[in-house]
Amino acid sequence: MYLQRRNRILRQSPSIRSMVAETVLSANDFIAPLFIDEGKNIEFEIPSMPGYYRRSLDGTLIEIKELWSLGIKSVLLFIKAPDELKDNTGKEAWNDDGLMQRSIKAIKNAVPEMVVMTDVALDPYSSFGHDGIVENGEIVNDPTVEALVRMSLSHAKAGADFVAPSDMMDGRIGAIREALEQNNFTKTGIMAYSAKYASCFYGPFRDALDSSPGFGDKKTYQMDYANRLEAIKEAEIDEDEGADIIMVKPAMAYLDIIREVKNSVSLPVSAYHVSGEYAMIKAAAKMGWLNEDKAVLESLTSIKRAGADLIATYFAKDAVKLLS
Ligand code: PBG
Repeated sequence: MYLQRRNRILRQSPSIRSMVAETVLSANDFIAPLFIDEGKNIEFEIPSMPGYYRRSLDGTLIEIKELWSLGIKSVLLFIKAPDELKDNTGKEAWNDDGLMQRSIKAIKNAVPEMVVMTDVALDPYSSFGHDGIVENGEIVNDPTVEALVRMSLSHAKAGADFVAPSDMMDGRIGAIREALEQNNFTKTGIMAYSAKYASCFYGPFRDALDSSPGFGDKKTYQMDYANRLEAIKEAEIDEDEGADIIMVKPAMAYLDIIREVKNSVSLPVSAYHVSGEYAMIKAAAKMGWLNEDKAVLESLTSIKRAGADLIATYFAKDAVKLLS
């Protein structure tokens, strides 16, 4: 057989394949999400996220040092607030002495170069489990933005490198940027969850923080998974309002969105490989139906190939170990 072109030439050996690989993962790509709880010596394995833990601050600091030693440069913090601190205003969110604020300080103190990103949304602090303030059964936009601004300033004051608003209220990126400027936090970045979909894949996360919505769902603020143009609109608006990094979330069911957003903005794009995506791989591996290590590397590589410059993933530590 005469063939002008034989595509298999570039696939014939591991050396050639690695020479022509277009997408290569490294520790620099990952953001490790961490769940933090009050107390001491607490390490709680999240039932729907086997192998992933919610820890008190002492254990979190040990984990941070390990992540840093593996080459992971960034963590994204979430805290679990006790029920007695929850109300409809979410005011614990901007308590300068709250668990989040103490955690930021302790982490920056222990490993100053670790890039600390913080979740900004009211759900862990809301008695309704919603990301915003509730009035007559409605999640009200503008009062919520004011609360998110207070929360962001409090995180910046504690030393956060990036605030990461995950609430999907309108206008919050601009309002947070303006407040950071006015208060001289000119080095604090904003990683905007710009295209965050109302997704069933957040289920295990809500277990981890006990933060499920008390009524209804999040569809009046998080995006409809049927939509594509809306994601581009959200990303472009957040870019104009002053975001430094644009996020798409979840990741694997939204690879098309990651690519389109990447092509639409002139900013780094991150993707959040969320709790349900972690749980699916863990569950299939436990059943013996998938090879976990291979599934992790294929998933993360596909997310990067789609256009993500950064990936927030519960597999960050595992992936770095697999890569080395
Ligand atoms: C809260 C928040 C959620 C996640 C990140 N920030 C849950 C939600 O919106 O209900 C989900 C992360 C994950 O599932 O891993 N605003």
